[in-house]
Amino acid sequence: MMRVLHVVGARPNFMKTAPIMAEMAKRPGAFEQQLVHTGQHYDVNMSDAFFADLALPAPDVTLGVGSGSHAEQTARVMMAIEPFLLQYKPDLVVVVGDVNSTLAATLVAAKIGLRVAHVEAGLRSRDRTMPEEINRILTDQMADLLFTTEESANDNLAHEGIPEHRIHFVGNVMIDSLLRSLPLAARSTIVERLSLSAGRYAVVTLHRPFNVDEPTTLHEILAALGELARDLPVIFSVHPRTRERIAALGFRAEGSNLRLIAPLGYVDFLRLYSAAALVLTDSGGLQEETTYLDIPCLTLRPTTERPVTLTLGTNRLVASERDAIVRAARASLDRGATDHKSPPPFWDGHAAARIVDLLLSDPSGRAR
Ligand code: UD1
Ligand code: UDP
Repeated sequence: MMRVLHVVGARPNFMKTAPIMAEMAKRPGAFEQQLVHTGQHYDVNMSDAFFADLALPAPDVTLGVGSGSHAEQTARVMMAIEPFLLQYKPDLVVVVGDVNSTLAATLVAAKIGLRVAHVEAGLRSRDRTMPEEINRILTDQMADLLFTTEESANDNLAHEGIPEHRIHFVGNVMIDSLLRSLPLAARSTIVERLSLSAGRYAVVTLHRPFNVDEPTTLHEILAALGELARDLPVIFSVHPRTRERIAALGFRAEGSNLRLIAPLGYVDFLRLYSAAALVLTDSGGLQEETTYLDIPCLTLRPTTERPVTLTLGTNRLVASERDAIVRAARASLDRGATDHKSPPPFWDGHAAARIVDLLLSDPSGRAR
């Protein structure tokens, strides 16, 4: 029996951990699982909603760290998780993605000498002004098992001197969650509740500090969205960081076709973007989800750590400038549907099964 401790903390973690926990539960007698929620995200619509939507078990431990500066948040997770790791002594700690909770849990586990698996390893934007890039590099250096989603990640890890035997190309667990949830999303009434017509609206999410914390940039983006909203309804799911920044600008969209809504749960949001004509985002996960579903996506960033979404998907990078955004969005809407492309390798709904098979093929419990 392998004792596994999973760590989640922020919105993009839940859809990555859920399929791995479900897959381990399918192998009777093989795993004892514990789930730790750091509490990095805590609003109902940034956290609780995902447990029901993704059938995640309730956390065994909640650390309640909340918001703060990077140092505060990272340190709080480290201090709160250490006693639990020392007491539970798992055979494996599974961390996902690139948020502060991921780095903090990995650092503590590695120093205790626990074995760590990093899911979604090796992605690199090569932009160290992004806190996630620092989190990715350090987490990958410390983790024993590196599970990758795309081939660029394997190359990045090799370039950083990580031995090949630690790297396992398993595919994308986010697509496992997406495929599992499509039947539920088909029953969602969110498009009707928002009085939209499928294929005739755009969906927006933004939360990167370089887009939303700088008032001039945020103003440019809001102006672009306002202009685009003359062509079609623009539904903006507003992240709490962004909500605070928009309020500080004194911006109001009332009376226009630009509609600011609270973040949605996973299933409603899947239904919403899967029926959109266009997605505009700076989210990591949404670049991948739109790639899989062939939804045109404009990413308001100068770089992406997920280059396969540019080469095999519908994703395009756009500068966070009013004219550039409007031009790219109109060009994309004019182009309409493109030829259906095959999804990237191993984005097939079986990534979690590959991870679990690999863990079971290493019964010694060592990182091979
Ligand atoms: C975090 C991650 C980012 C990820 C994003 C996903 C880091 C460094 N950043 O960014 O990689 O893409 O989550 O959504 O880990 N807030 C609330 N309620 C909440 C959560 C946050 O009001 O439930 C507000 C707080 O004012 C907080 C701010 O949002 O200060 C930012 O939250 P934080 O977790 O620090 O970073 P995110 O921008 O959410
Ligand atoms: N998401 C959601 N509801 C929303 C906005 C996003 O369920 O209102 C989902 C989205 O489909 C994806 C994940 O949240 O699965 C991405 O999280 P986020 O953009 O917060 O983080 P990132 O991927 O950028 O780290």
